[in-house]
Amino acid sequence: MANVLVLGSGGREHALGWKLAQSDHVTEVIYAPGNGGTEHGKGRNVPLNANNKDDWPALLRLIEEESIALTVVGPEAPLSAGLVDHFHSQGVQRIFGPSQFAAQLESDKFFSYRILDKLGIPQAQSACCSTADEAKAAIHELLNERGIVLKARGLAGGKGVIVCKTAAEAEEAAATLQAQYGDDLLVCERLEGPEFSVFGIADGKSIKAIELALQDHKRRDNNDQGPNTGGMGAYGPAPIAPPEVIQQVHASVMTPVIEEMNAQGNPFQGFLYAGFMYTEEGPKVLEFNVRFGDPECQPAMTLLASDLYEVLDQTLSGNLGQMKLSFHPGAACCVVLASNGYPGPITKGLTIQGLEKAGALEGVEVFHAGTVQQDGVLKTSGGRVLGVTGYSDSGLAEAQQRAYDAIQHISVEGNFHYRTDIAARALP
Ligand code: AMP
Ligand code: GLY
Repeated sequence: MANVLVLGSGGREHALGWKLAQSDHVTEVIYAPGNGGTEHGKGRNVPLNANNKDDWPALLRLIEEESIALTVVGPEAPLSAGLVDHFHSQGVQRIFGPSQFAAQLESDKFFSYRILDKLGIPQAQSACCSTADEAKAAIHELLNERGIVLKARGLAGGKGVIVCKTAAEAEEAAATLQAQYGDDLLVCERLEGPEFSVFGIADGKSIKAIELALQDHKRRDNNDQGPNTGGMGAYGPAPIAPPEVIQQVHASVMTPVIEEMNAQGNPFQGFLYAGFMYTEEGPKVLEFNVRFGDPECQPAMTLLASDLYEVLDQTLSGNLGQMKLSFHPGAACCVVLASNGYPGPITKGLTIQGLEKAGALEGVEVFHAGTVQQDGVLKTSGGRVLGVTGYSDSGLAEAQQRAYDAIQHISVEGNFHYRTDIAARALP
């Protein structure tokens, strides 16, 4: 029997911990810091945050005191800050997530562009620019009838990518990004097509695909309107990328990248997330992330039939090759309930009601993100508040219906903002 530690506070971490708690191997799931929904059953919160380096010594003490057998890192920031390297150096080896160097696949867009370029993996034609003049020249060279895309080189919390229509707009956007995030900018040809995400579990030498394409909805409002967000909902399996497409990108993208990292002496261990655009020429990589997607994790964990503890434990023990991941039949659909104003400024501290009724419905799981318990009352505490997830073994239409039916029971003062078209494009 084992205690596990989940680092992070979002819907992704709740879904990971919820799935880990279902394992017969797991006694307790400790979340640091967790949220208002993660303290129940086997779950317990401790007020430590891996995003804050000052909390790392206390997390290491917690791992020792609680005999934590497995730590899972949810978000990218502590990975890019070198948490895994530090924990390894302090004797903690059972931690799932990449080293700081390997995390550059997400934290450094030049790094990921160059590795794909070296391997000849399809991606947008791009230029690594470090001055305003270089950016301007690249904008004029790579602009097409669809426009052009600019990406800040480093982590920018989803705000570092600007899609532009004209060269004038792009030059202005380049100056804005350079002022805000530094001079290094990746200027990319603008691709066109639907997007999908593929996830894999890597042990440093090889990677196993989660054979299930997931589709996120990044824009805040229906019909992909409004500002970009962390994700307003996700569903899977997305029919746009059937199993043969997943197998193809697994063999031609994920596997060569993991092998190249290993060959360079920088093995990648953890969840690898590849975002694709399905262009007329086939799938092209938009980006890599070095962790699970949020909210993609919520439908993915709902659909995963395998014991997640065994999967991660065996991966850390070097036995990934012998493992087979299995999934429940059917589909899952997660709809995010967000605070009004998200992704801008929001009001916190509003009382949430109706979760018991919603969660009791067949095939429904309500994952928490921006919630907190205050004196036994559940309150809002962030932009994305809940991920209401419907599952059905009969398929996506019923999974979607279950999520939206459940939402009807949930209320907050001033109402939540949510999209009413999550998964709609995958349905007739
Ligand atoms: P990224 O963080 O790199 O995935 O970019 C965020 C979003 O910007 C993606 O989900 C796409 O919607 C869009 N995007 C990124 N790169 C491109 C591209 N080369 N062409 C068109 N859209 C893009
Ligand atoms: N849902 C997008 C992400 O996790 O980056």
